[in-house]
Amino acid sequence: MRFDVITLFPDLFAPFLTQGVTRRAYESRQVDVRLWQLRDFADDNYRRVDDRPYGGGPGMVMLAEPLERSLAAIRASQAEAGYPATPLVLFTPTGRRIDQALVREFAQGPGATLLCGRYEGVDQRFVDRHVELELSLGDFVLSGGELPALALLDAVTRLQPGVLNDAQSHVQDSFSEGLLDCPHFSRPEVLDTPEGPRPVPPVLLSGHHADIARWRREQSLRITAERRPELIEAARAAGRLSKADERYLATLGL
Ligand SMILES: C[S@@+](CC[C@H](N)C(=O)[O-])C[C@H]1O[C@@H](n2cnc3c(N)ncnc32)[C@H](O)[C@@H]1O
Repeated sequence: MRFDVITLFPDLFAPFLTQGVTRRAYESRQVDVRLWQLRDFADDNYRRVDDRPYGGGPGMVMLAEPLERSLAAIRASQAEAGYPATPLVLFTPTGRRIDQALVREFAQGPGATLLCGRYEGVDQRFVDRHVELELSLGDFVLSGGELPALALLDAVTRLQPGVLNDAQSHVQDSFSEGLLDCPHFSRPEVLDTPEGPRPVPPVLLSGHHADIARWRREQSLRITAERRPELIEAARAAGRLSKADERYLATLGL
């Protein structure tokens, strides 16, 4: 899988690509990340890649022409390496919100070409000609598309085979079954706190795998019902809730 990233700040990526559980996937090129400095495709001595917006107003706009040249270079590099031309993704607050279903789709695909916006955004003519997908990290405004690109890279990479030490780990994550994750506990068995001793829930020490699985499932259901009730409705509509799940939800009045 290959990701080509168009950015004005390639140095922001190195700290993320060289740390943590995903590091090996990047170093071995299981997930091959290529960084493209947009300024390398400027055509003046100032390496200018932005200009004022037509119609006036604040801020600057990323110029179409350097973007066209950078994309042509990426396509040539992909073709030379025998890769397909991967879909061009633009990060923008106006895009579709990134969620785990989308991450799973990317995790099974050939990768993508990621365009990290800066300034007020990208000349719309380039967007219209080339961008296949516009993605948002959430309903807030960042100063650039690098963090959304890193978020997508990280979420996709941890789903690749062998990346997580325990392959089951992501199966239990939030959203993997359409529900939020359950709480987790580790040593000590009893934590001393100023409010008094805080023991681990006894079922987790019982050794009964089925009881533990049931408790975790119920905690997931409870937390999801409290925080994201629409996810319970979606799981119900998709037939992902068992009779035992429904019995438990009924005890919560749902
Ligand atoms: C200052 S923002 C531009 C915001 C844009 N004028 C707007 O109001 O929608 C600069 C760049 O950051 C990125 N960006 C900011 N917030 C984002 C978000 N929530 N999701 C994805 N990308 C974002 C985009 O690439 C955007 O082009």
